[in-house]
Amino acid sequence: MPAPIESHHRCQVLYTLVDLFVAGINTVSTSLEWWLLLAAKEPLVQARARAEAGYAQALVKEVLRDKPPLLLPRRTVKDASVGGYHIPAGSVVYANNFALAHGERWWLEPSAFRPERWLQEVS
Ligand code: HEM
Repeated sequence: MPAPIESHHRCQVLYTLVDLFVAGINTVSTSLEWWLLLAAKEPLVQARARAEAGYAQALVKEVLRDKPPLLLPRRTVKDASVGGYHIPAGSVVYANNFALAHGERWWLEPSAFRPERWLQEVS
């Protein structure tokens, strides 16, 4: 007979399951909604994704780039500096994923919805 799970272990298991449901449901449904909307808006993109598996994968990446999810907050464990800004220990820091996915330093025509950028060497 298996040993009984102690109550704090049971609590950890329950909250880990809650984490997985919270992290895994809204992210997937929102991404699918954007995917359907953007594919519906672009019939040529949709037709190419139906015909080519590689292009369908590029479409998924472009949906996640164009409509990126929020990143998790971080807390600094010691004093730090980013881009010349002092960040004291204990600060909560959010990385701006939209800026990362749309910065002109990293992307050609960042506001254009172009799945084919993922099939080229320079995106
Ligand atoms: C399209 C679907 C999904 C998207 C867009 C997405 C997005 C994200 C993002 C942006 C983060 C935070 C990354 C960071 O700031 O470090 C994250 C973390 C996480 N996601 Fe997802 N996620 C998806 C699906 C799922 C699914 C299906 C599960 C579980 C069943 C899941 C479980 C987690 C967990 C546990 C973390 C925290 C990881 C850690 O401890 O660092 N995600 N996800």
